[in-house]
Amino acid sequence: MPTVKKKLALLKSKNEHIQLSGGIDRIDTQHSLGKLTARERLQLLYDQGFYDELYRFAEHQSHAFGLDKRDLPADGVVTGLGAIGGRLAYASSQDFMVMGGSVGGTHAWKICEIMDMALKAGAPYISINDSGGARIQEGVDSLRGYGRIFYYNTLLSGVVPQIAIIAGPCAGGAAYSPALMDFIIMVKDTGQMFIAGPEVIKAATGEIISAEELGGAAAQASQSGNVHFIAANDQEAIHIAHTLLSYLPANNTEDPPSLPTDSLLMIEDEALNYVVPDDSREPYDMYDILRSVFDSGSLFEVHSHYAKNIICSFARINGRVAGIVANQPIEKFGAIDIDASDKASRFVRFCNAFNIPLVSFVDVPGFLPGVEQEFGGIIRHGAKMLFSFSAATVPKISIVVRKAYGGAYLAMCAKSLGADRVVAWPTAEIAVMGAEGAVGVLYKNEIKAAADPKEKRKELIKEYREEFSTPYAAASKGLVDSVIEPKQTRGYLSVALESLRNKRDLRPQKKHGLIPL
Ligand code: HXC
Repeated sequence: MPTVKKKLALLKSKNEHIQLSGGIDRIDTQHSLGKLTARERLQLLYDQGFYDELYRFAEHQSHAFGLDKRDLPADGVVTGLGAIGGRLAYASSQDFMVMGGSVGGTHAWKICEIMDMALKAGAPYISINDSGGARIQEGVDSLRGYGRIFYYNTLLSGVVPQIAIIAGPCAGGAAYSPALMDFIIMVKDTGQMFIAGPEVIKAATGEIISAEELGGAAAQASQSGNVHFIAANDQEAIHIAHTLLSYLPANNTEDPPSLPTDSLLMIEDEALNYVVPDDSREPYDMYDILRSVFDSGSLFEVHSHYAKNIICSFARINGRVAGIVANQPIEKFGAIDIDASDKASRFVRFCNAFNIPLVSFVDVPGFLPGVEQEFGGIIRHGAKMLFSFSAATVPKISIVVRKAYGGAYLAMCAKSLGADRVVAWPTAEIAVMGAEGAVGVLYKNEIKAAADPKEKRKELIKEYREEFSTPYAAASKGLVDSVIEPKQTRGYLSVALESLRNKRDLRPQKKHGLIPL
C-alpha cells in the first residue's frame, strides 16, 4: 500500500506530465509558429492567470488504430472556469500539441460539460479553437461529439454570450461550432477556417487557391463575413475577447455592465451642426458623428471589415452600453445591400437577446438596386432587418441624420417599426423615395412635354425637395418626435435612454417567430 507521500508524488508527477502536454519539443514548435499553448492562452484569458481546470485527468476510451497505446494528456483540450474582469466565465482551449487538438469522444464530452456548466451558471462561454478536426481514429464517436457540441452551442444561444477564438486550423464540420456562436475572433496568419480545404476544392471544381487565401482572417472577415474581429496574434485575440465581454451582461437576465457616472453629461459639440455637407449627394464619414456623440473612446466596432456601408458597434453614453446601427455614406452612399442587411440583423438580434438598447443613425438612400442584389435575394435579406427591429423589445431610438427613404428607412427602425423615440436633424430628408425617382414617376408626362425636359426635371426635383424632403412633413404627422440641432444629440440620447431604462414591451407568447432566413 503506497504511503501518503507516494500518493502525493504520484499526483505531482501526473500533474506535471499533463501540464507538459505534448512535451517540450511541441511547445517549442507551437511558440516558433507564433502561437501560445492551450494553457498559456487560458492563463492570459483569466484574471491573474488563474483558472480552475476541470476534467484534467480525462482520457480517451478508444482502442481503434492503436489509440490504446497513445497517451493523450487531457485528451487534447483544456477546460475550466475563472474570472475575467472579475466576472465568471467558462472556457475550453484545444491543445494542438496533443494529436493536433483533434476531437474524439472524450474531448467533445469535456467541451459539452463546460458549456452545460456555463448555461447553468449563466456565465459566458469562450472557445479557443486550434484543431485538425474530427479525430479520424475515433470515427463516429467523434462525429457524435461534434453533434453534441453544436447542440450545446444552440442551447446556449441567446442565454449566455458565446465567443470563439480561432487560433489555428478549424476546418470541415469543426467550423460550425464557431459559426453557431455569437462572435468569432480570428488570429491572422495562424487561424484558418473552411468547410472544404484547397485540395478538396481543386479536386471538385479545379479551382486553385491557398489555405490562407481561402480560410485566412482577411478572407473570412471581409468576403464571407464569418469572422467579426481580426487579431494580430493570440495575445491580441484575447484582449479583444476581454473588451467585448466588458460590454456584455453575463446572461440574458442581466443588464449590460455600466460604468459609474454621477449625472447626465449634456455636452454639446458645436462642430456636429456642420458635419452634414450642404449638397445632399456629398458623402461624409458617419464616424465623425458617432465619435462626437458617444463617450470618448467607447466605440467598439463589430464586423468592421465586412459590409462597410453599415456600421455595427457597441458604445457607451454616460457609461451605459448601447448597440449602434448606422449607415455609412462613404461606402455605397450608405445604401443597404444583402451583406449589410445580414450584418445589421444579426447585431440587432444579439443586442435584443442581451438587453442592450439600440440606437440607429439614419442616412440611407435606399436598398441597393441591381440585378445581382435582386437575384441574390435582397428582398429576403432586407426583410431580416425589418423583422429583427420589429421583434426587438429593448429600447429603440433612431436619429435621422439625412436621407431616410422608403423601405430602407423603415429597416433602420422607424417609428412604425416600434422605435420608442425618433428624432430628426434639420438636414433630414424623410420621404417615400428620393426626389429624383419621385419626380420621374409623378411628372413623367410634364417633363416629356416641356420645351427643355432636362431643365424642367431639375426644377421639379428642387420643388419636391423643398416640399417633401424635409423633416417637417414627417414631424407634422408624428413620424418623428422632434427636430433638434445636431449638437443636442448626446443630451437627447442620454435622456431618451434614461427614460426607457425600465421599458416593458410584452408580446404574445409563441414558440418563435419566423425570421426570413
Ligand atoms: C487525428 C490528427 C488529425 C485528425 C492532425 N492530427 N489532425 N490526428 N485526426 N483530424 C495529428 C497528426 O497526425 C499529427 O500527429 C499531429 O496531429 C499534428 O499534425 P501535423 O499534420 O503534423 O500538423 P500540421 O503540419 O501543422 O498540419 C495541421 C493540419 C493537418 C493542417 C490540421 O494535420 C491536417 O490536415 N489534418 C487533418 C485534417 C482533417 O482532415 N480533419 C478531419 C476533417 S473531417 P502526430 O502523431 O504526428 O503528432 C471533420 C469532420 C467533422 O472534421 C464533422 C463534424 C460535423
